[in-house]
Amino acid sequence: MVSQPLIPVIAIDGPSASGKGTVAQGVAAALGFHYLDSGALYRTVALAAVEAGTNLENESRLSSIALNLKAEFSGDTVVIKGRDVTDAIRTERVSEAASRIAGLAKVRAALLERQRGFRRPPGLVAEGRDMGSVVFPDAALKVFLTAGPEERAARRYKQLMGKGMRATMAALLQEIQERDARDSDRSVAPLQKCADAVLLDTTGVPVEEVVTQVLALYQRAQQVP
Ligand code: C5P
Repeated sequence: MVSQPLIPVIAIDGPSASGKGTVAQGVAAALGFHYLDSGALYRTVALAAVEAGTNLENESRLSSIALNLKAEFSGDTVVIKGRDVTDAIRTERVSEAASRIAGLAKVRAALLERQRGFRRPPGLVAEGRDMGSVVFPDAALKVFLTAGPEERAARRYKQLMGKGMRATMAALLQEIQERDARDSDRSVAPLQKCADAVLLDTTGVPVEEVVTQVLALYQRAQQVP
């Protein structure tokens, strides 16, 4: 049996719409690794809480929702008890709620083991805010992706339009900046680049090129004894 620490993890962290999802999926596909979108977990808990009318400051109720959540993840698709919630977890209302509940220590603790459970052979590419700092501190490679806020708002705009959802650039830019501030300023697992993470600025860089850069970094990391 392969012991857990021998299963390699590539941790990709960064702010919202920095391209983490697309890059992480590209890297996972190239290596034949599993993929964890940890933000989708927070979003799924947020959706369940919003739909149940839960007060978003009720930490114990929210952590119980997180612990008992029956969600299945496959690629981009998320299903809760037979219902496809892939689009429902991407609305701006759920984005904001996810960012708020993600500041609660008990919610984060409730999701920790579930995230680690995605570590299966032959390897895992995990993306989020604290993959390298908290969830997989022994990752073989840690990458911190950034991009300017205007470019990130433009990417989110394109994503939402593609799904037929309505949004304005100005509102998205403001929302992204508020969410960045909340994610960076919180006391529990704040969004930050770990000392051992490689910083990649993706402003103006095509996604395929970023995937190639991450694959090269991983190859190099494997050669280091
Ligand atoms: O990555 P995404 O934007 O889908 O994540 C939604 C929210 O979940 C983020 O705003 C962030 O607050 C939270 N999150 C987190 N830690 C992670 C992944 C997401 O706090 N590892």
